[in-house]
Amino acid sequence: TLDMKFSSLVTLISVFSFVLAQEEWLNPSCPQICDCRMTEWVAPTPEVVTSWRKTEQCRNVKDVSIPDDAEVLNFDGSSRIKIPQLVQRMAELNNVVDLSLTSCNLSSLDSGWKSTSLLRLNLNENALTEVSESSIRGFPNLEELTIERNILKHIESSTFRNASNLKSLQLDSNLLDSLDWLNGTDGLNGLTKLFLGGNRLKYPILVNGTFSKLASLRDLVLDGMGIRRIKGGAFKGLELLETLDLDGNALQSIPSEALRFLPKLKFLNMNDNLIKQLGDKSFSEMRNLVSIELTNQPELRLVDDRSFFNLKSLERVLLFGNPMLSYIGKNAFVSCPELSLIDLHDTMIESLDKDVVDGLPSLVSIEMKGNPINCNCVMMWLKDWLVDQTARDKVVCASPPRYRLSRLVDVNDNDVTCAPTVQPTFPLRMVVPDTQQVVLNCRTFGIPQPKIVWFLSSGDIIRNQTEAQRHQMSLDGSGTLTILKPKSGDYACTAENNRGMASRKVSVQVLHSTTVKVIYTDKVEPISVFPSWEVESPEYNISLLEPQQTYK
Ligand SMILES: *[C@@H]1O[C@H](CO)[C@@H](O)[C@H](O)[C@H]1NC(C)=O
Ligand SMILES: *[C@@H]1O[C@H](CO)[C@@H](O)[C@H](O)[C@H]1NC(C)=O
Ligand SMILES: *[C@@H]1O[C@H](CO)[C@@H](O)[C@H](O)[C@H]1NC(C)=O
Ligand SMILES: *[C@@H]1O[C@H](CO)[C@@H](O)[C@H](O)[C@H]1NC(C)=O
Ligand SMILES: *[C@@H]1O[C@H](CO)[C@@H](O)[C@H](O)[C@H]1NC(C)=O
Ligand SMILES: *[C@@H]1O[C@H](CO)[C@@H](O)[C@H](O)[C@H]1NC(C)=O
Repeated sequence: TLDMKFSSLVTLISVFSFVLAQEEWLNPSCPQICDCRMTEWVAPTPEVVTSWRKTEQCRNVKDVSIPDDAEVLNFDGSSRIKIPQLVQRMAELNNVVDLSLTSCNLSSLDSGWKSTSLLRLNLNENALTEVSESSIRGFPNLEELTIERNILKHIESSTFRNASNLKSLQLDSNLLDSLDWLNGTDGLNGLTKLFLGGNRLKYPILVNGTFSKLASLRDLVLDGMGIRRIKGGAFKGLELLETLDLDGNALQSIPSEALRFLPKLKFLNMNDNLIKQLGDKSFSEMRNLVSIELTNQPELRLVDDRSFFNLKSLERVLLFGNPMLSYIGKNAFVSCPELSLIDLHDTMIESLDKDVVDGLPSLVSIEMKGNPINCNCVMMWLKDWLVDQTARDKVVCASPPRYRLSRLVDVNDNDVTCAPTVQPTFPLRMVVPDTQQVVLNCRTFGIPQPKIVWFLSSGDIIRNQTEAQRHQMSLDGSGTLTILKPKSGDYACTAENNRGMASRKVSVQVLHSTTVKVIYTDKVEPISVFPSWEVESPEYNISLLEPQQTYK
């Protein structure tokens, strides 16, 4: 308690001295529309000291007389401010470290700007169309440049060739449609933070070497850029990257190969994409990965065995809000010794194998509320995990019918079935071109483990790989049937054990066209494939977009 008293005394003293510091400087000539006082200034980088600085905050000003010792200047919202006068005055001031001109109706950065003391420049919400080398040349010590929500269309790689002090570059929500400029210069090799979210790329693929000159980068934000694919070498050179944000793009699979080039990555955000499935080593055994966010994938049905294999630092996985997700492989999280949270709420998951959580020594929480739980014998183990009252109340059975809306904790272990269920891990209807192989993932639950057999509408039965090969198909141990030369018809997966059987059928329609758009659906009503299917669809045949073919 003595220590506590002592430390609170220290806190009191330091708070008191800050108050003094604030009072200490009040600019005597502070214009009425301004607020001039000491404020806490957070340095752009750890190398610069965070401190209390003389700050002039003047909103909606036209003219302003800036005192000689000004340090932080904020003219946000001053759309009529006289820029030529400001440029002239800035050149005379030696102490300004921070200048903010948000919403000042700037349409260009005159080349006359000059300040050797400036560390941070904020130009958000203006009408800038370009940023050139000459426009930033006057700020040789600049560490943080923020130009969000402008209308920047293009950046030359020469722009940043002398910007070797730049640590943070935030260009979110502009009209930049290419990233060519990033690797055309060595000038950005000190950059630690790059924000490019909301710029829609014209060629929506990240190609090899895009970030190859950004060796110091730690945070990379690429959300909402329309990215459809990431090539294997796209992240080459990002040896120090810790945070990668790919939220809100159009990725259909995890860029496993590209992730291999990010040895230090800790936080990966891939929420709001179009990922269809996770499989063996999707995250490439990344040693430092702590958190993976994969929520809101409208097409994600399946998280297969070893998807999160051997991720030694992984602590949390967010998979909630995936409306089609119905299966997590029992070995999905093998060798993840630090994993403490798996969030699976609001998905289609009705069963989860006990093995998913066994072998996870650090697991503290597995979120299951909002799921259509099938209260059968596979799920009885989960009762032991529902410890707090909210969890006990929220995990409710959707089936079998007699337990509908009962809480899982109220279901009697001796009164449940162990018969198989077949999960909706493949759609009920598919329309595909004859050039493409069809992959049907059948996944089941049941105790003992059900045996999977595929029945075809031709009358053929596929029980094992030998039989599959005879029909130019392959069948693996997990129940996936790959049809190399698809034929129209029904394909039914049947799961059977000594307690019963279950099945699920997909109707496959094969069209003889290379331009057909693939359709996967669970709707049973007829699909109108004409006219929408006969369109040239780059979404399907992404190779049509390859640079060597049609781009440029
Ligand atoms: C913004 O600048 C443009 C010219 O660049 C001018 O026409 C417009 O009136 C200005 N808007 C305001 C609110 O001052
Ligand atoms: C910019 O860099 C080039 C070489 O990259 C150099 O020749 C030039 O002097 C530099 N300009 C300034 C203003 O530092
Ligand atoms: C630089 O990036 C472009 C695409 O933006 C790529 O084509 C090129 O190969 C990259 N260059 C290097 C040296 O990585
Ligand atoms: C891109 O990089 C990957 C990984 O290094 C490599 O396998 C691939 O061949 C490269 N592709 C091109 C077009 O250079
Ligand atoms: C495949 O199944 C058929 C029919 O049950 C059986 O005759 C055959 O021996 C099996 N082949 C293998 C390799 O298991
Ligand atoms: C995609 O288009 C290219 C070029 O037209 C063609 O060569 C390729 O076979 C197509 N791929 C598929 C899977 O249809």
